[in-house]
Amino acid sequence: MSNFKFHGVDVTGLAHEYGTPLYVVSEDEIVRRIRAIKGCFDERNERCSTFFASKSFLTKDMLRILMREGLGLDVVSGGELFLAQEMRFPPEKIAFHGNSKTEREIAAGLDCGVGKFVCDSMDEIELIDRMAGERGANARVLIRVTPGVEAHTHKYMSTGETGSKFGLPPEMIKEVVSSRGTSAYLSNISLMGFHFHVGSQLMDNSTNLEALGVILGLIKELRDDYGFETRILDMGGGFGVRYTKKDNPQNIADFIGGMVDKVESFCRSYGLSCPSLVIEPGRWIVSDAGITLYSVGSVKRLPGGAVYVGVDGGYPDNPRPALYGAEYEAVLVNKVDLPPSETVSIAGKCCESGDILIRDIELPEAQRGDLIAVLGTGAYNHSMANNYNKNPIPAVVMVKDGTPRLSVRRQTYEEMFSGNI
Ligand code: LLP
Repeated sequence: MSNFKFHGVDVTGLAHEYGTPLYVVSEDEIVRRIRAIKGCFDERNERCSTFFASKSFLTKDMLRILMREGLGLDVVSGGELFLAQEMRFPPEKIAFHGNSKTEREIAAGLDCGVGKFVCDSMDEIELIDRMAGERGANARVLIRVTPGVEAHTHKYMSTGETGSKFGLPPEMIKEVVSSRGTSAYLSNISLMGFHFHVGSQLMDNSTNLEALGVILGLIKELRDDYGFETRILDMGGGFGVRYTKKDNPQNIADFIGGMVDKVESFCRSYGLSCPSLVIEPGRWIVSDAGITLYSVGSVKRLPGGAVYVGVDGGYPDNPRPALYGAEYEAVLVNKVDLPPSETVSIAGKCCESGDILIRDIELPEAQRGDLIAVLGTGAYNHSMANNYNKNPIPAVVMVKDGTPRLSVRRQTYEEMFSGNI
């Protein structure tokens, strides 16, 4: 009987060598996807550049890949910025996002010279202006716009609707633009343009196109009424992937191409100079590049027919099913040749009823010691991992050209408690 292979690697050996749960990530797949995105965006013309959303997966190796491939980086915290600095990621290619940056984080961003801050409130714009002034610096700023559109996705992943905690509505943007240049107000920032991100795991670009309608209208109004020229337009990320057969994402070239076409034709029609364009994908680049390996522990067959296959991980290494009802596919690694024989739920090990990794999946009969691979866990798994029930964060193994290597060590119990006094 043969075992399930991931990018040419027999993962049973990895489980023995590094233990489970284990994240296994294909560097080749990440690179292939980065190049695919660049092919339909960055290479379209010199105005287009891709920034990777580091919240989806951030390790030293990931930063090495991004630097080699020449992508920019979107960070949302002092922690993400810290690792980027440690790895000497070019600061001018970093965009600092986040709706509630602390003064300490803003200071870190200013001091290392991040390329731009993406601001989410008036308060923050004024704070960055003051802090840049104190340093005799000038900060390049984009303002996040709330376009007032609703994305067709989980409500926790929709970010562009009116009243969202993210961004400022167009009428407030007009106030900021009109008040610039009056006295010394905001004289330590350069307002380069705008940002929007309507949501994540989007199956097509319809909401983005709707949002673009609003934002391009705003850009034109700002030019007509105040002579303000938008130099950068950041169109966010959110490009959906296929977690299960139910997901049918639009082809990436069409998704992105449709947005660029819309901007270019609008600018042509109204005689606007076309701004530099940015996208910030996270999930699309890393999701399919990762799997998580678990060992089967107790298997419980209940009188009513329910079967729970317990594994040695769950909520701590992948909180997405509990948070968003996210769905995944999985294989029984060492029984991949056997036909499915029962419908089971893969139960995580946390003391939470919601800690079910997959509900109602058809698998061959599982028993203690079998190995399960949950597929498509490259995005928002390692980056969202936590220590609930004091489970250590699993290791990450990277696979390149069929050769695995340890990329992030498994957290030890000692490390987990090292801050305790
Ligand atoms: N840009 C901004 C401003 C964002 O807020 C996000 C995601 C992205 C880019 C990247 O989105 P992506 O291309 O990865 O979909 N933790 C959740 C999703 C929340 C994402 C938040 N922002 C999940 O596990 O699905």
